[in-house]
Amino acid sequence: MAFKLDELPYAYDSLEPAISSRTLEIHHGKHHQGYIDKLNKAISDTDYADYDLPKIIQASHEAGDDKVFRNAAQAWNHAFLWQSMSPNGGGVPTGPMADLIATSFGDYSDFTDKFRSAARSQFGSGWVWLTYDSGLLQIESTGNADTPIMNGKQPLLTLDVWEHAYYLDYQNERVQYIDVFLNELLDWTSAAAKLEKNNEAA
Ligand code: FE2
Repeated sequence: MAFKLDELPYAYDSLEPAISSRTLEIHHGKHHQGYIDKLNKAISDTDYADYDLPKIIQASHEAGDDKVFRNAAQAWNHAFLWQSMSPNGGGVPTGPMADLIATSFGDYSDFTDKFRSAARSQFGSGWVWLTYDSGLLQIESTGNADTPIMNGKQPLLTLDVWEHAYYLDYQNERVQYIDVFLNELLDWTSAAAKLEKNNEAA
């Protein structure tokens, strides 16, 4: 089964000025599409072609099939990234998520300090994740295509810190891009829905 690129859940220009339409068009239409095209080519006529994306990620990771793994993981990570942002995002969460932030990190600024620090210190390309495990939230970063789901974890949010995500808008100022994500884009509603789903499945 060939994978297809889903449309974004919002218009290309709807995250402006935080993220320009041009950046989003290239990021979604070229980079994300490219990972899907390369994945389809790499799994064609293999056993992977019968699997869903998380299963391809886990199986190719275990087998050391780097080409399949990298493109499958990047296809999944980007689909997850689009769900992690919203035109009305950013700021302090409310409800159960606010309570979890307090239990897991302290106050909201402790959370943003930790998130910022993980995003700043990820050397080169990679991702920063908010994951949920054993009743607590955790922040972790991964290099290149690596993703928490390769270890069976379910993340709630992600930030892409590959340069292609921000270079046109912020050049080398990754710190500005991280702050804009936290203040204007991060979709707490989506994260809360994923948390609820995880709790129902547990
Ligand atoms: Fe990306």
